[in-house]
Amino acid sequence: MLGHTISIQGVEVPRFLYGTAWKEGETQRLTELALQQGFRGIDTANQRRHYHEAAVGRAIAASIASGLVVREDLFLQTKFTFRRGQDHRLPYDPKAPVPIQVEQSFDSSLKHLKAESIDSYLLHGPTSSVGLTPDDRAAWRAMEAIHDSGRARMIGVSNVTLEQLQCLWQEARIRPSFVQNRCYAVAGWDRQVREFCAGNGLVYQGFSLLTANRKSLASSELAQIAARHGRTVPQIVFRFALEVGMIPLTGTTNADHMQADLDVFEFRLEPEEVERIEGWPRRFRRSARRLPSGVPNSVDS
Ligand SMILES: NC(=O)c1ccc[n+]([C@@H]2O[C@H](COP(=O)([O-])OP(=O)(O)OC[C@H]3O[C@@H](n4cnc5c(N)ncnc54)[C@H](OP(=O)(O)O)[C@@H]3O)[C@@H](O)[C@H]2O)c1
Repeated sequence: MLGHTISIQGVEVPRFLYGTAWKEGETQRLTELALQQGFRGIDTANQRRHYHEAAVGRAIAASIASGLVVREDLFLQTKFTFRRGQDHRLPYDPKAPVPIQVEQSFDSSLKHLKAESIDSYLLHGPTSSVGLTPDDRAAWRAMEAIHDSGRARMIGVSNVTLEQLQCLWQEARIRPSFVQNRCYAVAGWDRQVREFCAGNGLVYQGFSLLTANRKSLASSELAQIAARHGRTVPQIVFRFALEVGMIPLTGTTNADHMQADLDVFEFRLEPEEVERIEGWPRRFRRSARRLPSGVPNSVDS
């Protein structure tokens, strides 16, 4: 059975992260609830448009004060977001050079999270959908300097194509430890990027596993696998993610779903089931039924 953590560069990283996007006034309560339910990895961003990082920090402080957790139990991950992914509530001076923006955003994250260091700092996304720009390179160098200073134990990148990842990998002085991407079943669950990660010792974090794949998840075959295991389809998807080496993210607002998500450590899929799910995208498309909507499906990085 898979353990709840994976050791990366001497850091115990939870294999399942709780994501704090889109919770607004409920951010503190839901983050505390997730910690109470057993999550120990928290993903946030200094991007007020979609996250409330200061409320995440209050949840962590309250959970430490109540004796539920100690800081050392937690894996805290946050992100630097370029101007185009932000609204007017910026954590930096937009006129400052990019490396200063990164420093200012990171300092503000430390204050929000009431932490002296964080465990993983991600570039929320490159400035362009193709290639890397001088601003991306400047941001990465600033993140490398933060890593050098010991204030971020690992650094990583989000919302990247394979080409962008390869480029960063070749150029970086400190290479990314994580890639965090939206994971589409119809794209083989981001197979190419996952294969690059597996081949180069990076760890892939997958988000929108449920919300980006509504049609795929309505497959009758997936329902059969779920029935065979006495589990729900979301549990099968999260377990599949673990089986293929991903760290999944969930941002559920429901205590029962939090528990159900963490329960995926309690069963395993057969290798042929994993293979079928991984190789299914086309058949998913054919057999898909409609699922109810109403869930946010994108975050501008
Ligand atoms: N790097 C990026 O650009 C980026 C972009 C998007 C997200 N993220 C990160 O990923 C996290 C997760 O986001 P997401 O896009 O995957 O969507 P999500 O916020 O986790 O949404 C999942 C949706 O599925 C529903 N659901 C039903 N059954 C569920 C179950 N058993 N477990 C979990 N959810 C269930 C949830 O409803 P209930 O609330 O009722 O359970 C919710 O509406 C975010 O909070 C954020 O930290 C990062």
